[in-house]
Amino acid sequence: MIDLHCHLLPGVDDGAPDLESALELAQLAVDNGIRRAVLTPHVHPGRYENTLASLVPVFEGFAGAVADARIPLELALAGEVRVSPEVLPMIADGDVPFLGEWEGKPVVLLELPHSHIPPGSDKLVAWLVSRGIQPMIAHPERNKDVMRRYDKIAPFIDAGCLFQVTAMSVAGAFGEGAHRRALELLEAGVVTILASDAHNSKHRPPALEAGRLAAAKVLGEEESWALVRERPRRLSESKFAATGTTSAA
Ligand SMILES: [Fe+2]
Repeated sequence: MIDLHCHLLPGVDDGAPDLESALELAQLAVDNGIRRAVLTPHVHPGRYENTLASLVPVFEGFAGAVADARIPLELALAGEVRVSPEVLPMIADGDVPFLGEWEGKPVVLLELPHSHIPPGSDKLVAWLVSRGIQPMIAHPERNKDVMRRYDKIAPFIDAGCLFQVTAMSVAGAFGEGAHRRALELLEAGVVTILASDAHNSKHRPPALEAGRLAAAKVLGEEESWALVRERPRRLSESKFAATGTTSAA
């Protein structure tokens, strides 16, 4: 399986705090059946001041440590970009790592705050689309506005966004509200991929298999694999094509 959203990169956000924990998470991912991971640290001005330039050396160090530890996990670097006015100039200047490509367009993984959908989010999405950038919304099923009213997601569907649902939401580990919305989004056929959004080994591990199994019960085996393997592979192909092992491109 291929995980396109996880916080394994050590010491850059609220994911793995140090190299030891990050290597433990990498091994757990492999144990869960994950063979490739695109690392997506928070890019959140004012909270996590990460940029493409600041993340690349950390990524290269970590990729080397994973190889030295002989953990069979191929790695690439992207970011989870917080919806905020501050990220517009960053994206325009190429300071934000993309998740991959979809139908020839670079994909940006966008994070809404959990509490609500900020006014202007639709404008940010429209601005990205107008620049030929494909937005993917991270875990919409965990957003409180979407939990209250399912139709709050409609403008993002209409704007052509892709959607990443958290695997453990489908398995029910993020509560009944997120579980119900995850299943509704799956049944509506708008979920592009499942991803782990792993932060730590205890409560938010790098796990896709439980979510895939839960998705298979609703949509069947074939679509469950498309959610964790075929579409993630297609999305991230350009990131892994260069060396076949690791890439910060
Ligand atoms: Fe995340």
